[in-house]
Amino acid sequence: MSIQILQAHYGFTRMPFGRDLAPQMLHRSASHNEAVARIGWCIQERALGVVTGEVGSGKTVATRAATSSLDASRHTIIYLGNPAIGARGLYAAIVSALGGVPRFHKANLIPQTADLLAAEEAERGKHVVVIVDEAHLLAPDQLEELRLLTNADMDSHSPFACVLIGQPTLRRRIKLGTFAALDQRIALRFAMPPMTPAETGNYIAHHLNLAGRADTLFSDDATALIHQVARGLPRAVNNLAVQALIAAYATKKAIVDETSARAAVAEITAE
Ligand SMILES: Nc1ncnc2c1ncn2[C@@H]1O[C@H](COP(=O)(O)OP(=O)(O)O)[C@@H](O)[C@H]1O
Ligand SMILES: [Mg+2]
Repeated sequence: MSIQILQAHYGFTRMPFGRDLAPQMLHRSASHNEAVARIGWCIQERALGVVTGEVGSGKTVATRAATSSLDASRHTIIYLGNPAIGARGLYAAIVSALGGVPRFHKANLIPQTADLLAAEEAERGKHVVVIVDEAHLLAPDQLEELRLLTNADMDSHSPFACVLIGQPTLRRRIKLGTFAALDQRIALRFAMPPMTPAETGNYIAHHLNLAGRADTLFSDDATALIHQVARGLPRAVNNLAVQALIAAYATKKAIVDETSARAAVAEITAE
């Protein structure tokens, strides 16, 4: 099914439920707003924060929203999207992001990382923010290295803000005894809840509105079914909503009704 056909059928000005929304176009559910506010607080306080949520709950989107509003002349944001790079890789990524050439031996790389982090603030007046996404993939030694880095200054203020974003297993892993020292340093913990049924309805309407349809295109029954099957998770709502649009088009309907939503559920769950 080509996007053009759907756009022509529904009169969309752009394909709805896409992933490329600018920060100011995002839907603001309670959970999104709270995640953005808390990540922002963690950044300002130079604290260590842990934000968890199920796959597709909107963690990465909320993180982008929180960092996009920061004054770029005063913040250096280091975003690590895939932490499965080993402990050395973690240091090397931070050094590279700060414009350095990572030293080969880890014994040299560690002080190089600490020095560059400190210089960013002391010499350039920049507030460093390290964000590790998919942080449930961090290996035990990497978690320990992160603790050491955030601890560089012991009792005075932490040299940078660090936000770990990951699936719910991240929270459980840090709770295990071996990470007690890291656990104690965590100033922010937030588990992103899914959207409520009403929010899912608003979410669908919001995406359709951005695509040029301000009228009601999904019936209440269809919305309720999509919410239930997607468990209020934005990415799953997107996938089901697109399939439902295709199903309604295929049966020549002007509105996405419950039958169209059921067809979408069958399509998605058969995959
Ligand atoms: N606040 C929001 N407004 C609009 N779309 C959103 C929002 N939050 C999530 N989404 C949609 O859901 C998808 C999944 O969100 P994402 O942040 O990647 O989930 P996670 O990182 O938790 O797996 C995004 O690609 C986007 O399409
Ligand atoms: Mg993500």
